[in-house]
Amino acid sequence: MKRIILLVWVLIISFLSQAQLQQSLNFYADKCQSLKIGTAVGSNFYTAYDNGDIYNRTIINNFNILVAENEMKFDAMEPQKGNFNYNNSDKLVAYAQKYNMQLRGHNLCWHSQLPSWITAGLTNGIANGTFTRTSLQAILKNHINTIVTRYKGKVQQWDAVNEPFNDGTGTLRNSIWQQVIGNDYIDSTFVWAHRADPDAKLYLNEYSGEMYGDTKSEAMFNYVKSMKDRGIPITGVGFQCHFMVNTINFTKLDQNIKRYAVAGLEVIITELDIRIKNTDYNSNPAKWLAYQASDYQNMINICLNNSNAKTFVTWGFTDKYSWIPNFTNNAYGYSLIFDNSYTIKPAYTSILNVLATESARLSAVNPVKETAEVRLFFTNGLAFIKTDNAMTRCQLFDMKGNCLIVSEVKNNKIEIPLNNVQSGMYILKVQLENGQTITRKFIR
Ligand code: XIL
Repeated sequence: MKRIILLVWVLIISFLSQAQLQQSLNFYADKCQSLKIGTAVGSNFYTAYDNGDIYNRTIINNFNILVAENEMKFDAMEPQKGNFNYNNSDKLVAYAQKYNMQLRGHNLCWHSQLPSWITAGLTNGIANGTFTRTSLQAILKNHINTIVTRYKGKVQQWDAVNEPFNDGTGTLRNSIWQQVIGNDYIDSTFVWAHRADPDAKLYLNEYSGEMYGDTKSEAMFNYVKSMKDRGIPITGVGFQCHFMVNTINFTKLDQNIKRYAVAGLEVIITELDIRIKNTDYNSNPAKWLAYQASDYQNMINICLNNSNAKTFVTWGFTDKYSWIPNFTNNAYGYSLIFDNSYTIKPAYTSILNVLATESARLSAVNPVKETAEVRLFFTNGLAFIKTDNAMTRCQLFDMKGNCLIVSEVKNNKIEIPLNNVQSGMYILKVQLENGQTITRKFIR
């Protein structure tokens, strides 16, 4: 009798854990060849850093690329001239490495969130002579070189220049960089960043540059294309995508992404959120959440359908910490894919469904059977994993769906240290080089 109860219990738990694992965006994104799905992590994260709470668990279970919402901006990184603060950025880098996630660096050069020792160079928005072209160039170069060098190989993508264009006209914004250095501050930022880490991908990140035909979007495309033509090391553009529900022109967005592809440039979604007007939401939450789910679904589909758009990052993941209410004087909110209490929203499910369908389609095209052999060997507190297929990494999950260990492939096999793993049942996810994942139960 005891045995039967135990068996039933194990079956229930394993069913629940499968259900939980399936509700994981990165589980499917990893199977959708090279798709990066990510989130900005907010300042609150650094106090609750890697403590296994729901904020951390939600990140680890769903994303494979992260970006700091504020902690790698100029004011955070170089609060005094030549005095760099790496406390939070180092934590984030270590966290991403531990959980095998990529990192976006945001950002190297922007007009906003500058330290006071830089903004001292402006009076009422006009350069006041504190800096010369040469002195400000040296400051910017040193800032970029120091940070990009420190995180060489650890930050895969940098927003090199953020928001350089004016709204409406699409002329260059008269930031302190533009006024004091001149328009070539943009080219220089890319060149200095590229010299510091030639493998890092470099983007020009903007808002309102998403839709084909809009004035700012046209100016941005022409500018970036001319940079590329002049040999400036630019990988592509970031579309911030701070959108309003039910207003997104997906045809124009798709058309825009495609012309960047023709120009040999990537387009990545860097700060997606889709806000809902509070009064609309309150009048009929289900209706507006459904519109939002459809918008998120179209957004992820656009990435899957364009080979130059393989990074999809939302600006936060829980409505609890979204910047939108504050930014809109509490007129808008509800913009992300988890609600205030970390419950998934219809938008989450719509993305998950798209990714699940796409990963199933890819496995059918390029099949490694889920029954493929995964061999396990144990010695000295280590589990060795081998398969007949090329592997990239393996994750060990507990039955609650928490990721405990991530190990990379070395010499065609993967080692998982078991010293700190208590006896019990676990789930192994072995990721193959072709993007597929094989999942196995594992009893320690
Ligand atoms: C926002 C952050 O979310 C806020 O916490 C902060 O107060 C202001 O900046 N475009 C960008 C981001 O490139 O850096 C901005 O982030 C949002 C708009």
